[in-house]
Amino acid sequence: MKSSLLYAATAFGIALAFPSIPSQGDDRFHKWHPAGPADVRAPCPMLNSLANHGFLPHDGKAITENITISALNAALNINETLARFLHEAAATTNPQPNATTYDLDHLNRHNFLEHDASLSRVDLHFGNVQPFNQTVFDKTRAFFTDEIITVQMAANARKAAIDNSNATNPEFSLSEQGEGFSLGESVAYIIALGDAATHNVRRDLVEYLFEKERLPVELGWSRRKEVIKFEELSEMIEKLANATASVPSEARHLARNAGFHAGVRAPMPRS
Ligand code: HEM
Repeated sequence: MKSSLLYAATAFGIALAFPSIPSQGDDRFHKWHPAGPADVRAPCPMLNSLANHGFLPHDGKAITENITISALNAALNINETLARFLHEAAATTNPQPNATTYDLDHLNRHNFLEHDASLSRVDLHFGNVQPFNQTVFDKTRAFFTDEIITVQMAANARKAAIDNSNATNPEFSLSEQGEGFSLGESVAYIIALGDAATHNVRRDLVEYLFEKERLPVELGWSRRKEVIKFEELSEMIEKLANATASVPSEARHLARNAGFHAGVRAPMPRS
């Protein structure tokens, strides 16, 4: 249980380290080019967006630790400790042993970081897990029932994706690590795009990120001024887990197995 929350927490936990870089000062927020035929992409709407903007290499290849740290900081105000952690996780998906870099399409490898029950991708049983899938995302979006997405709506959407995969995919599986990342991913879009004080996020910003693989700058979004701290993340994951557990569901046994209990916090990583 603890490791599940730890994955989710450390995956998107952020602490003070880097100074703020005003988004207005960085042209990359305003430049965007979709992937070309020789470029590779991931099942992650944010990494794809960062490559499309040029924060990550546009071809999606040979991403070093320094590139990851720099990109996540410049675009999202993510600190070095977290970026390093994410980079190390990403590098484990490189088929080359002991690799220190990764390509975005390495992240498509099933049950490394990629998992079933995604919010916007099909399960591997049904096809290619990489590209955005509007049908899958429409099912997710149906749970965003207002212009502002609350933690409860995010929990409902995530739970519905698990329920749906569980009911329709004969090969469905979600490891403890997969559960942890799944929680972290829902928290991530709230934290990266949402309001730091209320923990609500505008639906149009979330839809824009997923559907266009582009930072929603033209809708008024900008890089968070507040550095996100682990305490906030931990609180969010706990809220999401609690919100998931509070709704009757076929997937509740999964949540219980993964240890989504109220009030439990993962150890706090330090910068
Ligand atoms: C180096 C950093 C990162 C890595 C290696 C990474 C990796 C991944 C991977 C492998 C997935 C696919 C999971 C699945 O099967 O559904 C994913 C999904 C996702 N990621 Fe990232 N990610 C990173 C950073 C971020 C950041 C900063 C955000 C902030 C918004 C983010 C948001 C998401 C979301 C919302 C999903 C869910 C997509 C879906 O379920 O359809 N990621 N990420």
